[in-house]
Amino acid sequence: SDVPAALYEGKAKIVYPGEDADTLVLFFKDDTSAFDGEKREQLARKGEINNAFNAYIQTYLQEHGVPTHFLRRLDARRSLVRRLDMIPVESVLRNRAAGSLCRRLGVEEGRLLEPPVLEFFLKNDALHDPMINRSHIRTFGYAHAEEVERMEYWTLRVNALLRERFAQVGLILVDFKLEFGRFAGEIFLGDEFSPDGCRLWDVQSQEKMDKDRFRRGLGGVVEAYIEVARRLGIATDA
Ligand code: C5P
Repeated sequence: SDVPAALYEGKAKIVYPGEDADTLVLFFKDDTSAFDGEKREQLARKGEINNAFNAYIQTYLQEHGVPTHFLRRLDARRSLVRRLDMIPVESVLRNRAAGSLCRRLGVEEGRLLEPPVLEFFLKNDALHDPMINRSHIRTFGYAHAEEVERMEYWTLRVNALLRERFAQVGLILVDFKLEFGRFAGEIFLGDEFSPDGCRLWDVQSQEKMDKDRFRRGLGGVVEAYIEVARRLGIATDA
């Protein structure tokens, strides 16, 4: 067979070798999971929607000076990216309280967080992605102090750019998760940005337009992703 072996398979994506040693191909699956993989479902067309969505966001960020791994969309479900040496830390930025923050601190969903809250989580399924801080990141060697500073800087910069972009189309960027990696001595944004990894609320109706529709069994998951894409001018009929 001429299909290359996957290097890594995650819950929503498969990573294949790219055209050379410096690149990778991301394949966006329809699979959706929540609650540590306890709830799983295939959502028709989700993979292609997220691939198009991610291509738009990564390109938008690059045009505004953010270094990202994204190179180009290859076809409906695949994108070519620069291979990074990934840092096993998730960087979560919150403009409003939702999800695990509400559970942990007992704050009301929707509460404005000013200044926004930045949290780090260790990427470790067996440990259920525990929250960690800069000190853990340094001591356990997940990243150097300067790398943590760059991750924080780019997370805040991405927030400033995307909060504004989503506001232009009537959406509140509630929170989002980013992952970073190293390339040529610099920190680059990796992974994907899609409604699977952020929360977006309609500014008028306060309706959830993201993966919380799946987590909470609200239905219309892919329909909501398509509506967000439509507002941003992303073609999803390819
Ligand atoms: O669950 P929690 O409230 O901590 O999630 C914060 C944000 O990070 C949400 O937008 C969620 O979709 C995203 N996230 C993610 N992947 C994870 C954990 C959180 O995309 N493993």
